[in-house]
Amino acid sequence: MKIAVWGTGMVGDTIGSRLIELGHEVMMGSRSATNEKAAEFVKKNGSKALQGTFADAAAFGEYIVNCTHGVATLSILESAQATDLTGKVFVDISNPLDFSKGMPPTLSVVNTSSLAEEIQATFPDLKVVKTLNTMWCGLMVNPVMLANGDHDVFLSGNDADAKAFVTEHVLKAFGWADEHIYDLGDVTTARGTEMLLPLWLRVWGATGVGAFNFKIVK
Ligand SMILES: NC(=O)c1ccc[n+]([C@@H]2O[C@H](COP(=O)([O-])OP(=O)(O)OC[C@H]3O[C@@H](n4cnc5c(N)ncnc54)[C@H](OP(=O)(O)O)[C@@H]3O)[C@@H](O)[C@H]2O)c1
Repeated sequence: MKIAVWGTGMVGDTIGSRLIELGHEVMMGSRSATNEKAAEFVKKNGSKALQGTFADAAAFGEYIVNCTHGVATLSILESAQATDLTGKVFVDISNPLDFSKGMPPTLSVVNTSSLAEEIQATFPDLKVVKTLNTMWCGLMVNPVMLANGDHDVFLSGNDADAKAFVTEHVLKAFGWADEHIYDLGDVTTARGTEMLLPLWLRVWGATGVGAFNFKIVK
């Protein structure tokens, strides 16, 4: 498939590189069509890797994976052509982390809403699926690196078909087993996974280890 990966940071590079390993073509989106990190991504990944603006990537991709700075995501969406967003699945991995008051960051939207809900409400023609935002990016694409994959990933979104698509083509393709994929419900349930970040950040701060994940034990 042709896939847009928005974001030139560690997450965009990790997700984009893995999707290419799986045989897909990926355009990495950025504010600049000549972004240096995106150029490195293209150099490293060969002919199936491309770079462009966020809008170029939206036009290219059959679906979009959002790996951008969460507080910038809405303005990035505004930069894309509306016709390139209509009906597309939007895999939202971002977190609304606000670093303006120092470390650890706070959440810019919280309690009564979430970034995923703001995206869905502002762009109703997108099919927003929030997932993978609760763990370090190395684990997202390689869950078996920890406890042989015995830990969990969450999904939130209003569109059942979009969630089924993401489960099959993203999560299972990355190695997540059915029993570790928790569909929490509609997009409002993203409040729960985005609000896990303050805990994630404290565990990271206390242990100095980012390669950990959460597991639901019943
Ligand atoms: N690091 C992890 O393991 C991890 C785990 C779970 C979730 N996340 C979430 O994944 C997302 C990506 O994280 P990251 O560390 O890879 O990258 P990041 O530094 O949070 O974001 C990089 C991307 O955001 C864009 N960006 C930043 N500020 C912007 C602004 N003011 N206006 C427009 N675009 C802007 C950059 O555009 P340019 O390309 O133009 O510079 C770049 O493409 C974040 O939301 C993060 O919370 C990260």
